[in-house]
This record gives sequence, C-alpha cells and structure tokens, in this order.
Amino acid sequence: MKLIVIGTGYVGLCQGAAFSDVGHDVTCVDIIEEKVKMLNNFSKGISNQLPIFEPGLPDLIKKNCEAGRLKFTTSLKDGIKNADVVFIAVGTPPNEEGKADLTALKKVCESIGKTIEELGKEYTVVATKSTVPVNTHKVVIEILSQNTTKQFSVVSNPEFLAQGRAVKDCIKPSRIVIGTNDEKSKDIMMNVYKPYERQSIPIYLMSNVDAELHKYAANSYLAAQISLTNNFANLARTIGADWNKVKKAVLADVRVGDFVHSSPGFGGSCFEKDVEEFTHSFEKYGCDNSLLKEVLRQNRLQKQVMGKKVKDYFGNLNGKTIAVWGLSFKPETDDMRCSPSIPLLKTLVKEGARVKAFDPAANEESKKIFVNFEGKDSIEYVHDKYDALEGADALVLMTEWREFRTPDFKLIKQKLNRPLIFDGRDIYTSQEIKENGFEYSSIGKPDIK
Ligand code: UDX
Repeated sequence: MKLIVIGTGYVGLCQGAAFSDVGHDVTCVDIIEEKVKMLNNFSKGISNQLPIFEPGLPDLIKKNCEAGRLKFTTSLKDGIKNADVVFIAVGTPPNEEGKADLTALKKVCESIGKTIEELGKEYTVVATKSTVPVNTHKVVIEILSQNTTKQFSVVSNPEFLAQGRAVKDCIKPSRIVIGTNDEKSKDIMMNVYKPYERQSIPIYLMSNVDAELHKYAANSYLAAQISLTNNFANLARTIGADWNKVKKAVLADVRVGDFVHSSPGFGGSCFEKDVEEFTHSFEKYGCDNSLLKEVLRQNRLQKQVMGKKVKDYFGNLNGKTIAVWGLSFKPETDDMRCSPSIPLLKTLVKEGARVKAFDPAANEESKKIFVNFEGKDSIEYVHDKYDALEGADALVLMTEWREFRTPDFKLIKQKLNRPLIFDGRDIYTSQEIKENGFEYSSIGKPDIK
C-alpha cells in the first residue's frame, strides 16, 4: 500500500520506517527542510547523521531506503497523490496550561484538506497517530470539511512506542488500536495492518473516541502505577523494608503490571504531558480528576528526592563535587525531556556543588539545557563513567544504563573522595554495597551507613 506519514519526529520516523519494513511504500513528509535534507543525505549514504537517536533506526531506514520503499520529502502534494492512508504524526506538546497544543495538527489538517481539494482526490483516509485529547477527531473532521469538498474518513490510530525501543515497538507492537466510525476506512486500515495480523499482534477495533481515550488511559495507568510504586518504595526505605524484594512478591500476582521499579520519578515526553492533558479532559467533561492530579503531584515530589538526599547528607554543598551517572530519562535514549536528572542537577548547582556528569548518550542534550545555568558553568561532562568519579565526594546514579549495573566497585571507591553512593534506581543490592564498604542511600531500601 502507499502510505504517507506527516511529521518525522520519534513517532513519524520510527513508524514510517517500520511501515516500509513490512512492505508498504512510505513517504515521510516534514516541513523542516533541514531535517528532510539530513534524512535524504543519510539514505543516500552521504552522512551518518539522523535527527534522533534510537537503537535500530539507522539500519531500518537504510535498508528500506535502499529497497526503494521509504522516501523523505517536504512536499505534501507528492506524497498525498497516490496515498491510501495519510498518517498525521506531528507533535502535540503541552501549552502553558498543560493542555495539548494542537496548532501543528490543525495546520496539517488544513494543508491535507487543501491538497486533496487541489488534487481532486476522490477519497482519502486520514489517520491520527499523534496523541490528541479525547474528541479531537471531531476537530480534524471539521477542519478537513472546511478545506475540501472531497470524501474522507478520519481514523484514530494511536501509537504505543516507548523511546529506546521505539523500533521494536513499531515492528512488533503490543497491540494495534484502530478507532473509526465507518466501514470503508476500517477495511483500508485492516489492510495496512495485515502484515502485523499475520504475526498474531492483536488488533482492537473501536470508535474514534474509544481509541483516543484508550491512549490516555493506558499512559495514565502506567504513570499511576509508577507514582504508587514510588510511594511504597519511599515508605519501604523509611521503615527498613526492601522494596526490591517486596515488589517481586507483589508481581507474583499476575493482575499487577510491570511498572513497579522504584525510581527518582517518571520522565520522558509522554507521561507528564498526557496525564496532565487527561486531567483537563476530566475537568472539561465535569468528571473528578483528583486521582490523576495526585499521580502528577507525587511525581513532582519524587523528582526532588535525589537532590534532597544529597543536600541533607552534606548540609552544605558549597565546594563539594558530585559525580552523576545517567542523565537521560531512561536508558537507550539521549532524550532529557522531563528527566528527573534535571531537578537533581538544578539543586546541586544552586546549592553550590560542582557536578561531574556522564551519560552514554545524553551529555550533549544536557549541555543544551544547562548552558550557563544560574550564570555558572558548574557542570563538567566526561566521556568515561570512572572519570566522573575523580575527586568527587559522592556518586549519584540517575539512569539505569546497562553499563552502570555491574561496575568495578573497587575502582569507584578508589576514585571517590568518600565511599558514598546515592542510587536513584535501586540497581545495587544491599549485599554488594556492604561487601564493598560503601555508604549508600537508595529509593526503596534502608540506608547503609
Ligand atoms: C511511555 C509508554 O511506555 C509508551 O507506551 C507510550 O506510548 C509513551 O510513553 P516512554 O516515555 O518512552 O514510553 O518510556 P517508559 O519506558 O514508559 O518510561 C517512562 C518513565 O517511567 C521513565 O522515566 C522510566 O524511568 C519511568 N519508570 C518506568 C519508572 O519509574 N518505573 C518503572 O517501573 C517503569
């Protein structure tokens, strides 16, 4: 089938490449010329640079461009002409009130309407991949109707990709949700996903509003689970219990989901934004949103925990050097959006500490955020995890990258001024910490002194 994907961010680029990989003919469109140029240069082998860091994506793009199934352009017209489905995958970032900003989406709908009118295209399926508030399909229908007299169907087809495994999630998603209110577009969408159906990936058919609600409900469920988990982990540490052990027994109940790893709070571009937007939908439709608001409040508090730990330990951070391992909001991504390491670094710098930071992928992203922060240049970025420890008074672990899981504790001890570890991900066991003679404070385990 011929597909066009508008927007080459995480969702559009990964999904576009994955669609081409199952055999569709895909055109990815973006209005940013530089981005399209970068993608075209990459596909021709002129450069190795992609606009985003995502494991597996370079190979996937290369392979499908070479096979002639994946193209990049700035021209909507070229892509739309023969497209069976037009996917919208533009960003819906939060505005100042925390509501989803639909400016880009609305503009794209206007352009799609105008283009199909101009081309005289008889029928078009427009599928929304972007995460949009409940009932946005009505807005999409309205804008398209204002700009074309031709026939179209609007489908809500949310994505569930998690960064760091976006390619895997696009190739083998946990489920596919197709929300449409008419049979014609349902059949076309089923054809798009036929290669997935063959792999026994479940496809859920529902109405547009069902599909929109499903996306927010799924993300809010996961976010709520993390806030609840962190709440339990905080209590566990305080009463001398070990959440890591407790959670295993809790997980033995198959009704409890996977998101029960304690953390310095959830980050990333989706959870905060989506839960917040969801609270506004509850409000708009007169429903009580206090539970979701509490999920967000707990997370805001949780994101302060690591900074507070370090501050409380030293009393005064002036003249102290703190090593930080991990900056991205989770492993396998360079994304720093809403990362819990941001409030940590802010606290450390504001309190007068010097920071030596190392992240396997996110050093550059962090530099952009903290350039001249508070008029100071207090964060030094290093390229080796052990270099960060040289002369530091403590190590704070913020992201559970694989390379931090089994470090050389003897070397850590040798390099640090003081054998002190703050573990934001509870990745070290109390036993190994004791054996190696560290002082230790984590999220969900009793402190070791
Ligand atoms: C999430 C959803 O998983 C995905 O389905 C949706 O489409 C987009 O949002 P993503 O934000 O990429 O994906 O990452 P995810 O792996 O879900 O992690 C989000 C945050 O939760 C991270 O900061 C992570 O560290 C944290 N987390 C996750 C926990 O604190 N505890 C856990 O048990 C799991």
